[in-house]
Amino acid sequence: MNSFEFNKIFAAVLVAGITAMFAGFVAENVIHAHALEKDAVAIEGVESSGGGAAVEKLAEPVLHLVASADVEKGKKLSKACASCHSFDKGGPVKTGPTLWGVVGSSKGGASGFGYSSGMMEMGGKWGYTDLNKFLWKPKKFVSGTKMNFIGLKKPEDRAAMIAWLRTLSDSPKSLPGDSEIAAEAAELAPPEEDMADVTPEAGEEIEQEAEKATKVEPHAGDEITVIPAKKPAVEETPQEIIEEILEKVTPEAPKKMIELNN
Ligand code: HEC
Repeated sequence: MNSFEFNKIFAAVLVAGITAMFAGFVAENVIHAHALEKDAVAIEGVESSGGGAAVEKLAEPVLHLVASADVEKGKKLSKACASCHSFDKGGPVKTGPTLWGVVGSSKGGASGFGYSSGMMEMGGKWGYTDLNKFLWKPKKFVSGTKMNFIGLKKPEDRAAMIAWLRTLSDSPKSLPGDSEIAAEAAELAPPEEDMADVTPEAGEEIEQEAEKATKVEPHAGDEITVIPAKKPAVEETPQEIIEEILEKVTPEAPKKMIELNN
């Protein structure tokens, strides 16, 4: 194979490479991929990946439903809880604490039960809004909770459950008032806009990396530090640079040596 043949092959490979790079560059700049807002195919029991963390799903507000909710329905739904909870006054501690009087009580406050540290760190009382959020997805509301229960998905079910839990008391807490209902609706309203993408542009990162790379740390103990940090605007031959350095360091003699060497 003569060198002309080789050049042709080399050029072909080079052109192919450049074309591929250019195509990639164009594709990246012309087409912007967006995360789906919703899963294209909804799968029962699987959390949506839609939109990433920015559009996190929240529990639907239910406080406006509690006053008119079906208490009997709540009682029926409590069968799902009964394996772990007693709802009776003075009832036994099971896998979970007794839930008599839980509405309005301190979180993690039932006596004789060893709560998770996540629950103990929550603080505050079981108001209606917190119960809604907890019953929606226990693990989301109390990270590391011991309550191994998936949650009540339907807003009506949570409203009914809360309405029933409210009755389990000698002096039931008053029903959610207008301001409480409005506050919950505001807190759990779906986010209006996706949050702006805060990850830095790829180019920015590369720039930062490049900046780091060009900073050359001087070595301790270096005596001659006249080598320019940046490339001089006018290209100098190595010979000229050496002469320049030697000129600064020593007078005449070495220059002569260089001349002799040439
Ligand atoms: C598999 C067992 C299990 C099931 C089913 C279960 N829970 Fe629980 N629940 C627990 C445990 C355990 C805790 C304590 C959580 C902790 O310490 O993090 C708890 C805590 C709670 C609390 C907080 C109590 C407090 O004193 O702070 C409420 C309210 C509650 N559960 C309601 C319910 C309701 C309502 C249901 C049914 C819809 C239910 N749970 C189903 C195990 C369960």
